[in-house]
Amino acid sequence: MAYLDVVRARKEFAGFTALQDVSLNVERGEFFTLLGPSGCGKTTLLRALAGFNDLTSGEIRLDGEDLRRIPPHKRDIGMVFQDYAVFPHLSVFDNVAFGLKPRKVAPAEIRARVGEALEKVRLGHLAERLPAAMSGGQQQRIGIARAIVIRPRLLLMDEPLSNLDAKLRVELREEIRALQKQIDIAAIYVTHDQEEALAISDRICVMNAGRIEQIGTPQEIYGDPQTRFVAEFVGTLNRLEPSPALESDLSHLGLKAPRATLWAVRPERLRLLPPQEAEEASEKEAVVLGRVEQFTYLGREAHVRLATDLGPLVAQIADPGLIAAFAPGEAARAAIPRDALMAFDAAGARVKLEG
Ligand SMILES: Nc1ncnc2c1ncn2[C@@H]1O[C@H](COP(=O)(O)OP(=O)(O)OP(=O)(O)O)[C@@H](O)[C@H]1O
Ligand SMILES: [Mg+2]
Repeated sequence: MAYLDVVRARKEFAGFTALQDVSLNVERGEFFTLLGPSGCGKTTLLRALAGFNDLTSGEIRLDGEDLRRIPPHKRDIGMVFQDYAVFPHLSVFDNVAFGLKPRKVAPAEIRARVGEALEKVRLGHLAERLPAAMSGGQQQRIGIARAIVIRPRLLLMDEPLSNLDAKLRVELREEIRALQKQIDIAAIYVTHDQEEALAISDRICVMNAGRIEQIGTPQEIYGDPQTRFVAEFVGTLNRLEPSPALESDLSHLGLKAPRATLWAVRPERLRLLPPQEAEEASEKEAVVLGRVEQFTYLGREAHVRLATDLGPLVAQIADPGLIAAFAPGEAARAAIPRDALMAFDAAGARVKLEG
């Protein structure tokens, strides 16, 4: 049995099913992320864990205990919210101490534990300040300190970084990850930002319309997506619709997938070949001919959009440096490595390739 077990969780609101048959488990010390588009049920699941909303049916077991029978304030769960939820009229110290008040902790111990929690989020020197005078990043640190000061059995975070600007988001996500490992607690983190999920998680659970699409490590989710939804939601995809040109490339590669209705390849897996030189692609690659439609330089990478027999294809070039090549209209060739191809059936499930 895992530390946290969610078994066939179902949540119905009047006439609408927000969670359908969600089962997952999280280990002690694990950083587990719920990733999915708006409305897929992430917050609904967190609220069911915290006890703010009970499930319609299903089981939640934490450390062997049936959580649904325990009222929210007795579950020992820390929660961090998107909007910080700090009290503006209370000092940083009192905000963090707030969670300990109903727990009848002695004043000396309150001081010690709040001090320790503030040190962990690097706010020790600001204990007497009022939150109104603090930045969004600092206010969220208060929120995190308040969640961990109760020494929770589970730490829940619902899009804690989405109100912060991009640079701070990256900084704070690294701090959150380090803190979670340091206090060695099971954490469930909600985001709809795929890069954040890849960066911060031990495992990711991709959700779609109240269901789980796939659970796996960041590498498995990105590198081996099991559904079309996961492949499209995490990263970008070139979609290859069935066509005679595609058939011919697949047969050159000796590949078959009878049930496939869609083929796909990631932009970074396409290899651009110099158009004039007779550089031959290997037999493990299919070569597509096309013309450059657009060149987008992004600093650490560049995107070249080609019009080809297989339809539009975007190739990503890592570390483009000072190259200014690829003018629109120019002829171009791209090689698709055989092992870069993915195929999906009509229902969106990944299809195993034969050959
Ligand atoms: N109290 C409620 N009554 C009726 N429907 C609700 C209620 N709470 C949530 N829903 C619906 O359930 C679905 C899932 O909502 P939820 O808040 O869990 O989504 P989410 O994945 O957290 O989305 P977001 O990324 O926008 O926060 C949505 O369609 C939402 O409208
Ligand atoms: Mg939400």
